[in-house]
Amino acid sequence: MIQDLGELTGPVLIFGGPYSNAEATLAIQEEARRLSIPSDRVICTGDVVAYCANPEETTTIIREWGIPVVMGNCEESIAQQAPDCGCGFTEGSSCSLLSISWYAFANQHISNTNRRWMQTLPSAIDFSMNGLSFRTVHGSTTQINEFVFKSTASHIKEEQLTATGKDVVIGGHCGLPFGDSLAHGYWLNAGVIGMPANDGTTQCWYLVLTPDHTGVHAQWHRLAYPYRKTQTAMRDCLLTEGYCDALSSGLWPSMDVLPDYEKSQQGTPLQIEPLFIERH
Ligand SMILES: [Fe+2]
Repeated sequence: MIQDLGELTGPVLIFGGPYSNAEATLAIQEEARRLSIPSDRVICTGDVVAYCANPEETTTIIREWGIPVVMGNCEESIAQQAPDCGCGFTEGSSCSLLSISWYAFANQHISNTNRRWMQTLPSAIDFSMNGLSFRTVHGSTTQINEFVFKSTASHIKEEQLTATGKDVVIGGHCGLPFGDSLAHGYWLNAGVIGMPANDGTTQCWYLVLTPDHTGVHAQWHRLAYPYRKTQTAMRDCLLTEGYCDALSSGLWPSMDVLPDYEKSQQGTPLQIEPLFIERH
């Protein structure tokens, strides 16, 4: 199911991956308030639940906020009570082993109300802004758990973008924010708020799109939040494996899913240049 928000006339705030991190979720909600962006112009690219200690509280904050949310593979799995998170990790890989404990924890701590809400989430969210058309997805336009990175070949992004008939695709899932200007459009990733971007800092990322005369400005921002509180909550729930340390080190415990370029960037503070999306 694709949800169509129609024409959005003011700035839009987009973020991914709350990952059961209630403190980061409250921080992004406060950021939207500070920027005076109402809930119908805030979009989440999915994976509301994952690594951290508050799957139920985080889902309730997002659901009661009333923002449009794309279904992530974590929501798809929890909604179906599936045996694993559906991330597409290779069996026996460190990502796969790390996911076993947080997935079981999240699956046990989600209420029926929130599980039912997850079942209702769309696979994509469309909107238009200033004469440009956007499709927001979780992984790729064809697969909920496909990883699309900055270094993913342009022709793969081009083919998927062309098939949608849109000007811009906005993805999530891979955990790393980026903006890629293609020959016939753009592929953006808003980044995630629940885990740092493997860049050696504790801050997470979100994206703001702002309409301007001839197009749309895309600007990525860092999000700071009280990560030590999140770590305490994780230790209290015995979720002490790699992701707990990653909140303070800014370094992912496993890079199994990363292409060589993204692996080489571990520990280098991210800088993302703003992008101007031109109307054609
Ligand atoms: Fe995902």
